[in-house]
Order: sequence, then structure tokens, then C-alpha cells
Amino acid sequence: MADNSITITDNRTGKTYQIPVENGAINAMALRGIKVDDTDFGLMSYDPGYKNTASTKSTITFIDGEKGILRYRGYPIDQLAKSASFLETAYLILFGELPNQKELEQWEYDINHHTIVHKNIEKFVSGFRYDAHPMGMFVSTLGALSTFYPEAKKVHDPENRALQIKRLISKTITVAAFIYRHSKGMHYIYPRNDLGYAANFLNMMFRMTEDQAMPDPVLVRAMDVLFTLHADHEQNCSTTAMRVIGSSEADPYVAAAGAAAALYGPLHGGANEQVLRMLREIGSVKAIPEYVKRVKSGEIRLMGFGHRVYKNYDPRAKIIKEIADQVFEVVGKNPLIDVAIELERIALEDDYFVSRKLYPNVDFYSGIIYQAMGLPVDIFPVLFAIGRMPGWLSQWQENVSDNEQKIARPRQLYLGSDERQFVPVAKRG
Ligand code: ACO
Repeated sequence: MADNSITITDNRTGKTYQIPVENGAINAMALRGIKVDDTDFGLMSYDPGYKNTASTKSTITFIDGEKGILRYRGYPIDQLAKSASFLETAYLILFGELPNQKELEQWEYDINHHTIVHKNIEKFVSGFRYDAHPMGMFVSTLGALSTFYPEAKKVHDPENRALQIKRLISKTITVAAFIYRHSKGMHYIYPRNDLGYAANFLNMMFRMTEDQAMPDPVLVRAMDVLFTLHADHEQNCSTTAMRVIGSSEADPYVAAAGAAAALYGPLHGGANEQVLRMLREIGSVKAIPEYVKRVKSGEIRLMGFGHRVYKNYDPRAKIIKEIADQVFEVVGKNPLIDVAIELERIALEDDYFVSRKLYPNVDFYSGIIYQAMGLPVDIFPVLFAIGRMPGWLSQWQENVSDNEQKIARPRQLYLGSDERQFVPVAKRG
């Protein structure tokens, strides 16, 4: 009997089956051979929320949720956050290796020189109502970009893919800044080729007059690190959406729009917005115990806490906490940080959270920094999406280049009515 296999006995028939184990998994299709008789469709696995289903092989991101480890292409997240720029990290995620000096310069040049968007994108953004949610505008505008680049449909052409990847990473900051300025009723600021990625973004967001000083380098670096911390997170909800949409050979603009839509939800990238609303609602340190009581009774969830994969401290939350102090030195302390720190302390000592292994996730502290930097809460998920774009694109590219992949199409367990005869409306009781 092969060592790398499991033996399953089907108690319905008494038959045994030997199924190979590869990389710690069995191929779900091997279950299909387990049948009661020839008319049986074969065994399936039932896994709502894909809690124990690997949908792909990947070489991009490694997470050990029990130990709180996150690595992009093997490099620990804390090393990248400390020593690499966001664009350097994006290159690593997309191409598998850190760039040398020449490659990095070329990459930064390329990204900088694709930031301009078609004039009609300005008109498109201007068409939204003044109070439209930035994520609604963002999702729609990413989708609209598809109509400007019809050649992006050639998803099996590597050169074409590379061009669309550069465009999406570049134009995302321009689109995000236009959306912000539209919601503020401010004229659009065009990108500048002499600025780095995060500086360019902050300049497009906040510039009021020609003679205004450049964004503070500490804030630029904080924004850059926040993008890095969000750059990829293996098969999360939005990345899975990106892969699923991409599996039908849709172009990367509409696939990214779908991924951004998945990110928008409060249980995923929308959580950073909800954390801020929650901290405001709590309001003060003395109101925390009462709020925690409501969480424990099941009435509400503690936003920014808990994670499907991390059953330990999210390593990104640790790094974000450090950046918060640097940002506060420049812009002044956000008073909500005291509420957040005390809330974390109380939760981490409480058996409800300890027994369920609920720790702060990436979103718990990011919003406090964004708010201190003067960003409104409803733009927070857009900032998450800017950071995640290289991850979505790398995972999309891996998926469309993977010969083992097929169009995504899960099975279901049908539990509805058996065949029945149509009854005309007049004869229905
Ligand atoms: N507050 C209170 N209780 C919680 C929380 C929370 N934030 N998260 C999980 N729980 C409890 C659940 O009630 C459940 O308890 P039970 O066993 O008594 O029923 C247990 O912990 C397990 O929770 P599930 O919902 O089964 O865990 P799942 O892995 O499906 O959910 C999720 C993960 C969605 C992130 C969840 O922890 C949550 O809703 N957190 C708040 C939203 C949030 O911060 N999302 C951002 C995640 S990070 C990201 O996407 C970038």
C-alpha cells in the first residue's frame, strides 16, 4: 500500500478505496469514483465557504494562521514592510523575485508612465451623485476601464497581460484620487511622473493649490507600507472572486471590478470602515465593557477582530500599530487609538475571544491611521483595494496560466422539490 495515500471504507457498500495524498490534499475528483451503484453520481464533498477546499496550487503567498506568519514569495511581511517599497513588493508578487536596481527603475518608470486615464473617465466619475459611496464609484470605474482597452480580452497573450497589469496598478491611484475629489467637489489633479507611487497618490488626493508643499515623507512612507501590508493574502474572498471571474476568460478590468466588489463587504475589506464607525460609536474607554458585553451576547461583532485563517495575532496588525505612532507624531494623535488599544486589551483577556482565537486583524488599526491622515472613512476600502491590486493581478495571471485550472463551477447538493406538474394560476389554492 502506498505511503502517500488514504484508504476509505464506504460503509454503505463495504468497498474500500485507496486515494493518493499529494501536498497534504486529496483530489476531490477521486471521491467521484466512490459509488453505491452504477447509477450513483459519485461522492462529493460539501464545503460552504470553502473552509477546507484548496481551489488552486499557488507559489505567491504563504500564511500559517496558527503561528501568525505571512510571506510573499517566501519573504516575511515584516522584512518587506521595513525594507522594500510597495512597487518593489508588487514586482516580487507578480514576477516571483525581487527586482535588481535596473529592473526596479524600469518597473517604477513603467508604472509612473501609465497613470493617466482617458478624459472620458473624468466625465464618468463626474456623473456620480455627490454622496455616492467611493467603493461603488471605484467598482464601476474599474469595470468601465475595460471598455477603453478592448485588447485586454486576449488573456492568454503574456505580453498583453503584462501591459494590462501595469495599467491597472498605475491607473488605480488616479481613479481612486478622482473619486475622492469628486466626492469633495474638488477639481481633479493629474498624476506626476517625478513622484513615487504613494506620493503621487497623496498629491492627487490632497493638493489644493499649485504652491502647496509636497505630502510629508512620513505620511508617504506610511501609505506605502500600508499598501505593502495589503498587497496579497492568498485565496481570500476578493482574490477568489478575481480568479473565478478570470476563469471564464473575462478581461482583468472586469475581473478586478468583481474582486473590488467582493472586497467592499463589511466582513472583508469593508471592515476597516466599520471599525472606525464602531470606535466612534463606543466613543470612550469607559464605554468599552458595555460594548464587549453586547458582542459576547451575539448582538454585534467586534469589527476588525477575528479571521478565517489567523488564529493568532495578524502580523500585519502588529506592523500597523507601529506605523500609527509615526503618523501621530506628524499629524497629532487620533483619540480613537486609546479606545482601540483598551478594547484590544480587554478582548485579549476575555475568555470569549481567547477561546475562539479572535485577535485584531489588519483592519483594526489601519482605519485609525487613515483617519489621522485626513481621509474620510468611506474611502478606506478603496485604499485597501489599491494595495491589493498587485495581488489580484498576480493571482489572476497564475490562474489563467495554470493548465490544471478550468472555468470555476462548483457543484451543489440539490434538496429542492422533485419533478412536479405545472398548475395554472387560476387553479392554485
Ligand atoms: N466578534 C465577535 N465574535 C466573533 C467575531 C467577531 N469579530 N468573529 C468571529 N466571532 C465568533 C463567532 O460568533 C463564532 O462564535 P461561535 O462559535 O460561538 O458561533 C466564532 O467566533 C467563529 O466565527 P465564524 O464566523 O465561524 O468565523 P469565520 O472564519 O467564518 O469568519 C470573519 C471570519 C468573517 C473575519 C469573522 O471573524 C468576522 O466577522 N470578523 C469581523 C469582520 C472583520 O473584521 N473582517 C475583516 C477580516 S480581515 C480581511 O478580510 C481583510
